[in-house]
Amino acid sequence: MAITVEKPEIDGLGEAVDAVREWQHEGSPWQLHPGDLGWFWRFGAEATAAAVRTWRRDGRILAVGLLDGADLLRLTTAPDSRRDEELARRLVEDVIEPERGVLPPGKVFIEAPKDALIQDLLPERGWCTGEPWTPLHRDLTEPVKAPDPRIEVIGPERAQVWAGVTRAAFDGSKFSEERWQAMASGVPYADARCLVAYDGHGNAVAMVTVWSAGPGKPGVLEPMGVHRDHRGHGHGRAITAAAAAALQELGSSSAAVSTPSSNVAAVATYESGGFQRLPEVRDLTRDA
Ligand SMILES: CC(C)(COP(=O)(O)OP(=O)(O)OC[C@H]1O[C@@H](n2cnc3c(N)ncnc32)[C@H](O)[C@@H]1OP(=O)(O)O)[C@@H](O)C(=O)NCCC(=O)NCCS
Repeated sequence: MAITVEKPEIDGLGEAVDAVREWQHEGSPWQLHPGDLGWFWRFGAEATAAAVRTWRRDGRILAVGLLDGADLLRLTTAPDSRRDEELARRLVEDVIEPERGVLPPGKVFIEAPKDALIQDLLPERGWCTGEPWTPLHRDLTEPVKAPDPRIEVIGPERAQVWAGVTRAAFDGSKFSEERWQAMASGVPYADARCLVAYDGHGNAVAMVTVWSAGPGKPGVLEPMGVHRDHRGHGHGRAITAAAAAALQELGSSSAAVSTPSSNVAAVATYESGGFQRLPEVRDLTRDA
């Protein structure tokens, strides 16, 4: 059977999310997570459907890609399809040729699990490695210390608090309450929690969203940040530890996160929150 690529309709997104959820397992290399699709959902279901691609053979989804911004395709496959030659060759052709509608022409990036065959094939076609990213991991099989009492789980009526801290943590962020509602309406949000941390004066100082992929599977943090006026007081460490505790409550086997290695403060904060650094990974890129 030939492999086909498609852009799902909105009502087909659940199937893509289910596939990506199913493929998460402990010990697998860093890969696209249902939480990444859930975080993208802040732009709405229609935009999410437009950004997702699925590759199938015989009706079964073998690979899912998320066009995360204009020039980055985040791609993962079923664990038993990582070395599938027919799939890898098809993925390569689809990402290389702009007329196939997967990636635009010019300088683009691809994130794929480090054991995927496409990692070997793209360099043969002249692609090179991009900037280093640091994945970090925290095992959750041992009980995580109860989170600080000044942590709030955010529901719809408090979305503006989370949105405000997010804007204050990320330069240029336009995150709004509407985006929060859009994100929370997404399929992956059923397994997610948004948290806000407060300081001793009652200021909302830090935020995180945690995304479970179901019990016994790794969960992820995306995004995490501290209000720019309140950095350097341990709030990054506290919200990171609270995120781990929330994922443990949701049944996750571990908590994972990945950040550009150049974001030294973020790597230090995750380590301070009990995460261990894993070997760096790199995107693949094609020059313009
Ligand atoms: C990364 C960030 C959350 C750190 O917040 P913070 O409030 O300063 O963090 P903390 O005070 O809890 O510090 C945590 C640890 O990181 C270290 N750290 C913080 N900033 C650092 C920097 N610029 N360089 C080196 N280490 C740094 C601290 O020394 C501390 O280490 P320790 O616990 O071993 O003493 C904050 O800078 C931020 O929100 N950045 C923008 C958003 C972002 O990049 N998020 C992460 C990627 S999604």
